[in-house]
Amino acid sequence: MARTDVQSVKQRFGIIGTSPVLNREIEKALLIAPTDLSVLIAGESGVGKEAFPQIIHQNGIRKHGAYIAVNCGAIPEGTIDSELFGHEKGSFTGALGERKGYFEVANGGTIFLDEVGEMPMATQARLLRVLEYGEFIKVGSSKVQKTDVRIVAATNVDLHQAIRNGKFREDLYYRLNTVPIQIPPLRDRKEDIPLLFRKFSGDFAEKYRMPAVHLTDEARLVLVNYRWPGNIRELKNITERMSIIEQEREISAPTLKTYLTNPDMERLPVLVRDSDPKNFGSEREILYQVLFDMKKDVNELKKLVHDIMSGSINSQQVEGNHTYHPISVKETPDIPVNVTPTPIQVAPKKEEEEPFEADYEEETMSLEDVEKEMIRKALDRNNGRRRNAAQELKISERTLYRKIKEYGLE
Ligand SMILES: Nc1ncnc2c1ncn2[C@@H]1O[C@H](COP(=O)(O)OP(=O)(O)O)[C@@H](O)[C@H]1O
Ligand SMILES: [Mg+2]
Repeated sequence: MARTDVQSVKQRFGIIGTSPVLNREIEKALLIAPTDLSVLIAGESGVGKEAFPQIIHQNGIRKHGAYIAVNCGAIPEGTIDSELFGHEKGSFTGALGERKGYFEVANGGTIFLDEVGEMPMATQARLLRVLEYGEFIKVGSSKVQKTDVRIVAATNVDLHQAIRNGKFREDLYYRLNTVPIQIPPLRDRKEDIPLLFRKFSGDFAEKYRMPAVHLTDEARLVLVNYRWPGNIRELKNITERMSIIEQEREISAPTLKTYLTNPDMERLPVLVRDSDPKNFGSEREILYQVLFDMKKDVNELKKLVHDIMSGSINSQQVEGNHTYHPISVKETPDIPVNVTPTPIQVAPKKEEEEPFEADYEEETMSLEDVEKEMIRKALDRNNGRRRNAAQELKISERTLYRKIKEYGLE
């Protein structure tokens, strides 16, 4: 078999980048392609995992066989077994006819199991059986069937953590992970950022028939040093939006920053730069922290307002230190006392009432509230498109569906 080199693979699959880590992983994919080993591709969301199972399939002995990609996070728990393994007629309500599953259809080919960390435990047991014995049983059947598929899986969650949480089978992990491929986050291959930007701005210029956007030197620095939580997918989206929206085709640093989420945050937590997959959750933790801090500020502000109203601080003092103007308090004399204040409501002074502490008591937001709020905002930002919201939140679509239900966000 002719040896395919990294360069031609990149060309064929439209992979941009020269970083040595990326090259190494492509090389690894090519080396193991002709073997029949299972492969696990790990990396944050948006790093470009999806090209890898195709590289492996196309360069393997099964390239003339079927290639089926399944997003385990997007299939409801109730139907995933039947989709993957098929079902017998009448095996459950609605199973009118017999159905072939992907593992049967892909016999002789490759199955790509994307977001494998989202696979329900019962399905994991079935998958393990395929991996160990090449066997499966249709839902509602007792007949053991054989299949010959190569399995390539991908995950953007840390499976070690999932194993510790009892969400992923350890034996399955070792079976899948015979060859690990780890795609580094974009922030760890900064040298590729300008190349990717140039490629995308060129593509979108063509698509929208406009001159390509380009960056000032200062903007390029911002672009390269941004932490890219959504990785290449985010870079591509932002380049597309700028290409459409910006009249001025030379993008300045301040303009670029309006497209980035907390562009100055890379000064802050060291955690974010950590490429250790164990810290995949750290982005979210930082967001929680930011939300908690905001909450604290609001509470302090409330206390301040109450201090003014109870006369313990005069308005001069306040004006000196804060931008908050007490006049807004005086203008709301008719609001009834509210003992469970919302962040923007201010309870006005009432004469012989309970002490003020009761009014501004520490409001703590539960993790649940924070999560609910984050989901609501993500849905808003994506105009209700759940797929995009789920991507942004780095959770699977199925988890998002469940949470929307749970919190009544529909
Ligand atoms: N090296 C790359 N060069 C060019 N485009 C890329 C590269 N890596 C990823 N992309 C693009 O970024 C987007 C996200 O990649 P994808 O493979 O879907 O990420 P994920 O790791 O989440 O599966 C896709 O549009 C993909 O084409
Ligand atoms: Mg993907």
